[in-house]
Amino acid sequence: MQETMNELKIGDLTIRKPIIQGGMGIGISLSRLAAAVANEGGAGIISAVCIGMTEPDYKTNLKEANKRALRKEIRKARALTNGVIGVNIMMAVSDYDDLFRIALEEKVDLIIIGAGLPLRRPAGIDEEMFKNRKTKIIPKISSARAANVIMKFWSEKHGTLPDAFVLEGPLAGGHLGFKPDEIDREDKTLETLVPETKAVIRSFEVKYKKSIPLIAGGGIYTGDDIYHITQLGADGVKMGTRFVTTYECDAALAFKQTYLDSKQEDIQIIESPVGLPGRVIANQFVREINSGMQKPVRCAWQCLKGCKFKSVKFCIADALFSAARGDFDNGFSFAGSNAWKAERIMSVHETFQQLEEEYQQKCIRRAAV
Ligand SMILES: Cc1cc2nc3c(=O)[nH]c(=O)nc-3n(C[C@H](O)[C@H](O)[C@H](O)COP(=O)(O)O)c2cc1C
Repeated sequence: MQETMNELKIGDLTIRKPIIQGGMGIGISLSRLAAAVANEGGAGIISAVCIGMTEPDYKTNLKEANKRALRKEIRKARALTNGVIGVNIMMAVSDYDDLFRIALEEKVDLIIIGAGLPLRRPAGIDEEMFKNRKTKIIPKISSARAANVIMKFWSEKHGTLPDAFVLEGPLAGGHLGFKPDEIDREDKTLETLVPETKAVIRSFEVKYKKSIPLIAGGGIYTGDDIYHITQLGADGVKMGTRFVTTYECDAALAFKQTYLDSKQEDIQIIESPVGLPGRVIANQFVREINSGMQKPVRCAWQCLKGCKFKSVKFCIADALFSAARGDFDNGFSFAGSNAWKAERIMSVHETFQQLEEEYQQKCIRRAAV
């Protein structure tokens, strides 16, 4: 029996270890973390959402700052690794089209599209460019139904199919693609969703003679978890929370410390101005917004398409970027349901070693029964 993880093949792209690091905004996964993951054989992902907040002029010029910072971070990552580098772009942001175009121009290996159903072609990308892309395009979904809708629409309207899907279950960190009352439902667990989604994808794979890998995420934390979900049909995994407590993670040390200090009961769900539930580590700021307190909202520009910035209780971009810099008076950490398991900060190299060893041990234990 093979005791090492399978490589992940997405078309002509090979990812030596089937681990895609989740893009984490704002400023949590930039070039340093992405390159470190890519150097270990996984796919390193830069989060594009409000990435310009890391630039000095973001308050007056956020859209330009976003474009500049995204290009800069992709190039920095490329200089640090020959491995696989991708970008995570949320459909919900108002400069989605610009960021998508820049990621294509910079020839990233893959683009993961989150927070929305990506049916239309991004503006400025013509049909030929879209069909003959080198960059792999991977929608992030939360149901088999979404996979079906996207594949049907793309095959009929664009004459192409996504290169893979990320299926994210309800245990993930950050914004969730579930209604609050779905989060704990048994029919919404990742273990239920993976075989359902795999079956839907399979029918398109057969019809169009194209392999479309399924990457599962949300609550994957150990090598055992990787083993378990790949046995259920996932071709790879996406892990965000696990990579926060690494030296290379681009967030401030204080952000990582909130993970180390957290207890299981601190990991809670909030209602985000994005219009989706979000999983966070509760702190005083979270308790205040939950009790209805109004926080100052100084919107420099409307970063989220649907944000009602004149009536929201807090600015999600400000709160997340404050936390990334270690300011917890004005923000909170996004975190997955397993964040409390972190015991110490380690290198990305050691993290991969641990995951490999756990995976191997699990294979050996399974073979013995
Ligand atoms: C701190 C943090 C920030 C995140 N930011 C984003 C983001 O900007 N865009 C996005 O699509 N997903 C975001 N996510 C989700 C991750 O990309 C990934 O899908 C998720 O972390 C997987 O679940 P896990 O945290 O249990 O491993 C974030 C997750 C975390 C923990």
